[in-house]
Amino acid sequence: MASLNFSNEALKSLIDHFPESSLLISKEDLIPYSFDATATFYHAPLAVLFPSSIEDILWVLQWAKSNHACILPRGSGTSLSGAAVPQKNSIVLSMTKWNKILEADPYNLTLLVEPGITTQAVQEEAAKFSLFYPPDPGSYKISTIGGNVGHNSGGIRGLKYGVTRNYVLGMEVVLPNGQVIWLGNKCVKDSAGYSLKDLFIGSEGTLGIVTKVLLRLIPKPQERQVILASFPTLEVASEATSAIIKAALIPSALEFLDQKTIECIESYSPAGFPKESQAVLLIESDGHPQAVRDEITRISQVLKQYGPLEIRIAENPKQQEQLWSARKVAFSALARKAPTVLLEDVTVPRSSLAQMIRKIQQISKAYAVEIAVYAHMGDGNLHPVFLGDEKNKDLMERVFRAMKEIFLYAIKLGGTITGEHGVGLAKKEFLAYQYKSEEFQLLKNIKKILDPENLLNPGKIFD
Ligand code: LAC
Ligand code: ZN
Repeated sequence: MASLNFSNEALKSLIDHFPESSLLISKEDLIPYSFDATATFYHAPLAVLFPSSIEDILWVLQWAKSNHACILPRGSGTSLSGAAVPQKNSIVLSMTKWNKILEADPYNLTLLVEPGITTQAVQEEAAKFSLFYPPDPGSYKISTIGGNVGHNSGGIRGLKYGVTRNYVLGMEVVLPNGQVIWLGNKCVKDSAGYSLKDLFIGSEGTLGIVTKVLLRLIPKPQERQVILASFPTLEVASEATSAIIKAALIPSALEFLDQKTIECIESYSPAGFPKESQAVLLIESDGHPQAVRDEITRISQVLKQYGPLEIRIAENPKQQEQLWSARKVAFSALARKAPTVLLEDVTVPRSSLAQMIRKIQQISKAYAVEIAVYAHMGDGNLHPVFLGDEKNKDLMERVFRAMKEIFLYAIKLGGTITGEHGVGLAKKEFLAYQYKSEEFQLLKNIKKILDPENLLNPGKIFD
């Protein structure tokens, strides 16, 4: 039984109210809900509730309020920020069973879904109508739309298509005060006041509980082509990326992998990446066949100016898929490389890519910390991956110092500490470096207005 300094009477009233099938309370059952995809955070909730109705959510909110507990809405827990890790006296509100498609509207190109549906299921549903849902976080097979909304998740296609925010037209939200509100609509345009729905996107479950999401779909691109280019140094690959953007070429994906990442991928799930090259760019162009051909030619011309070791065009859809599947396992492949692997997502203006990459290499040397790097390079979104070991205190101290220096340098370049994973617990100590004090206060004021009693996911983003 979960007890944890918490009144047994309060827990009993929770247990009495819900059927056994809706509540997890045993120590073993709580384990999978005690962490997310980050390596260093762990805290058990008091219980996990699978609500079956809005009434259940309202009841547990009231219960939490009366008993000084808090509520953590959670999808699949694939977050990389600690945002989905419970804090003291938390009830996890698991939305994973709310996974239905409520309406597909081919006349307005929208999809109304419940928050627990996976990103992949949304992509597949869109495809049935020859439509396209572009956001594709690495965890798309299991991550939920609710979690994607909570983190404003990005992914490989952010460069041309944007991120989750660009595909959310509306949502139903339960507020901490018990009001159930609907924000947004099916209109392509809407200038009626503040864009309230945007406040909830990326709010990491700290402002409201999202119970329905209205998604925007777009026409499916007719064709795609994938180029792989390898380079002798990381810097040259970064410069080539900046040059592609400067040439106003915006492919659907422009990814980067360093040698360490390639090695790990190749030993985990071989896809034919050139193991000996220091840096690989993986670029996809999609759209009308003629436009794709033209874009691929122009991108190749730019790449050639940077002395690539090789430029290869995937021969068929199967090869393309193989390369993308391999790219998507980058994090899982690297996670096997050391006992404690920390993945970050600093993002800088794309003109500063080579500078940022150089700095990461210097920092890696200065702190004697092994750092692999892969990136959504076209977005300026880098994934430095720190290879640590929690049992080695000295190493972990160096890891965190190196990480802080990378964050501070990204901010200095006009960048952000997180391009797509969110702040959660992992980056909250750095958020104040990115925001001026009056801006930071504005963030906190928004939380205070919507959740004055700090009921929802407290201690995430900021204290
Ligand atoms: C990726 C995720 C981890 O790009 O952001 O692989
Ligand atoms: Zn990523």
